[in-house]
Amino acid sequence: MVGAEGDAMTPAGGEAPPLLRLRSVTKVFPSERGPVTALSDISFDVEEGEFVCLVGTSGCGKSTILTLVAGLLEASDGRAWLAESEILGPGPDRGLVFQRDNLFPWLTVTENVRFGLTLSANRSRDPAEVKALQERADGLIKAVGLDAFRDALPDQLSGGMRQRAAIARALVLRPRLLLMDEPFGALDAQTRERMQAMLLDLSQSQGTTVLFVTHDVEEAVLLADRIVVMHAHPGRVVDQIIVDIPRPRHVRMKLDPAFARIRGRVLDMLHASETEEESVA
Ligand SMILES: Nc1ncnc2c1ncn2[C@@H]1O[C@H](COP(=O)(O)OP(=O)(O)O)[C@@H](O)[C@H]1O
Ligand SMILES: [Mg+2]
Repeated sequence: MVGAEGDAMTPAGGEAPPLLRLRSVTKVFPSERGPVTALSDISFDVEEGEFVCLVGTSGCGKSTILTLVAGLLEASDGRAWLAESEILGPGPDRGLVFQRDNLFPWLTVTENVRFGLTLSANRSRDPAEVKALQERADGLIKAVGLDAFRDALPDQLSGGMRQRAAIARALVLRPRLLLMDEPFGALDAQTRERMQAMLLDLSQSQGTTVLFVTHDVEEAVLLADRIVVMHAHPGRVVDQIIVDIPRPRHVRMKLDPAFARIRGRVLDMLHASETEEESVA
């Protein structure tokens, strides 16, 4: 029995705690025109193995949330935990992929993907483990479809290919959580769709937990198990929608009526925020 009345203890064999927990997170930035509340009272969870998309208009604080979870920024108030440890700084348990790929231009695809393995924090690993990780890097390069380009430099790759390399690099150390900030935002529509298909396959095969930022509602519905809808000024969570479209997913599912229904619900929520803001302005 889980959660008997008056019993605050988690029973043995009870539900696993969420992998990521945000509680009442607030972020205020100073600015010339006074403090800007980028995030106000943000609380949500990401379960182990879940794919969660953050959706909202530009400026609603999506990137700020990712940066906080990455441990690159400190909250003004509230707290966040990853696997029961409070997030107090960056760490290899989180992989990062941004809109710009951030590959090192002087390193080949293989060298870029293996880069995390050469960092000092990982040098102490025993040789067998290093070898296994190098093999993992090679496997990921294959999985993202870059096998024929393993010796190419980033300059020689298309935007989509560079993002594939960045994704492989972020996954190489087996992060518990993959953080992606509009990773396909700069790609043309066709490449974007191919990348979505690849990410669907990859996250399924790797069993990766993902927190993915996008302002593209269609992309969110295709990828997510759950969509966290945000409004701006101040950035806040207004609702969460479960995407109960079965997996494995395919880009063709965008044409399904169930897909259109969920997309419509998210768009209505986002639109409600615009009207709300217009009436305030
Ligand atoms: N370093 C910063 N200094 C001041 N204001 C910032 C900073 N980073 C973000 N902001 C402000 O916080 C709000 C949320 O920004 P951001 O998280 O980038 O939104 P999104 O990613 O949803 O577009 C915006 O109003 C933005 O101008
Ligand atoms: Mg952003």
